[in-house]
Amino acid sequence: MSDLFDLTGRVALMTGGSRGLGKEMSIALAEAGADLVIGARNKDHIDQAATEIAAATGRKVVPTVLDVTAPASVDAFVALAQRTFGRIDILVNNAGTNIRSPIEKISDADFRLVQQVNVTGVFNCCRAVVPHMVRAGFGRIINMGSSMSLVGLAGRVSYTASKGAVLQITRTLACELARTGVTVNCICPGPFATEINRPLMENPAMAADLLGRIPMGRWAEMREIRAPVVFLAGPASSYVTGAIISVDGGWVAQ
Ligand SMILES: NC(=O)c1ccc[n+]([C@@H]2O[C@H](COP(=O)([O-])OP(=O)(O)OC[C@H]3O[C@@H](n4cnc5c(N)ncnc54)[C@H](OP(=O)(O)O)[C@@H]3O)[C@@H](O)[C@H]2O)c1
Repeated sequence: MSDLFDLTGRVALMTGGSRGLGKEMSIALAEAGADLVIGARNKDHIDQAATEIAAATGRKVVPTVLDVTAPASVDAFVALAQRTFGRIDILVNNAGTNIRSPIEKISDADFRLVQQVNVTGVFNCCRAVVPHMVRAGFGRIINMGSSMSLVGLAGRVSYTASKGAVLQITRTLACELARTGVTVNCICPGPFATEINRPLMENPAMAADLLGRIPMGRWAEMREIRAPVVFLAGPASSYVTGAIISVDGGWVAQ
């Protein structure tokens, strides 16, 4: 059974690996045996995260500055992985952002930024790794959606639009790549207490409203993202593609 979750010899790319869910999932993949290349915009933060993950797991973890909105930066990220390890088995499209606002107050720039990071970033990274994965006849692409890929929420139109698109990218690429050995799946988290949710955590009324939507009535614990990503990255999920794993305390079950 443990072989089904063994990532020994695999190489994973993690976007947004410097903190939050990206760092947590990087630790999980490394503990399962994968080596990693992790990227984010802030150099100090990504270097520090790589040092910590490598020390905690004993795996090789290569940090790099990455902006997923810039195709040249994404190409350099992928080239670094090829140069360092000679292979790319797993891509986790985790980098993301959220700007909360009622529609009449959203600037063009803010709406565009959310789509650029959450949608164009996922597209850029998929387009860059797919040729390597198809050539190898194996690949695992894991996209970070959200409960808001599946349900609407007032004041979140930039984010829900972008995460709905992530789900459709997932489904379309799953169909497109189904006979190549490459699977494409989506994790849809509910609320985790990370930087992206700082505005909620600092606003008790907003936090209470959100928790009121969660049947389990609590925030997720960070470790609760680990098993889903290892499952989708490993041999256990070989016949799973185009799927959603909700990790949301039951939010979208209602
Ligand atoms: N936390 C939740 O409750 C929750 C729920 C549902 C879905 N999600 C999704 O899960 C993913 C991770 O969220 P999180 O909560 O861990 O957020 P977070 O703590 O804010 O971390 C976001 C990560 O993405 C990086 N990043 C942001 N813009 C980037 C860009 N243009 N290029 C490369 N890296 C970039 C950040 O580093 P830099 O700023 O240094 O670039 C950071 O490493 C996101 O896609 C988010 O939408 C989170």
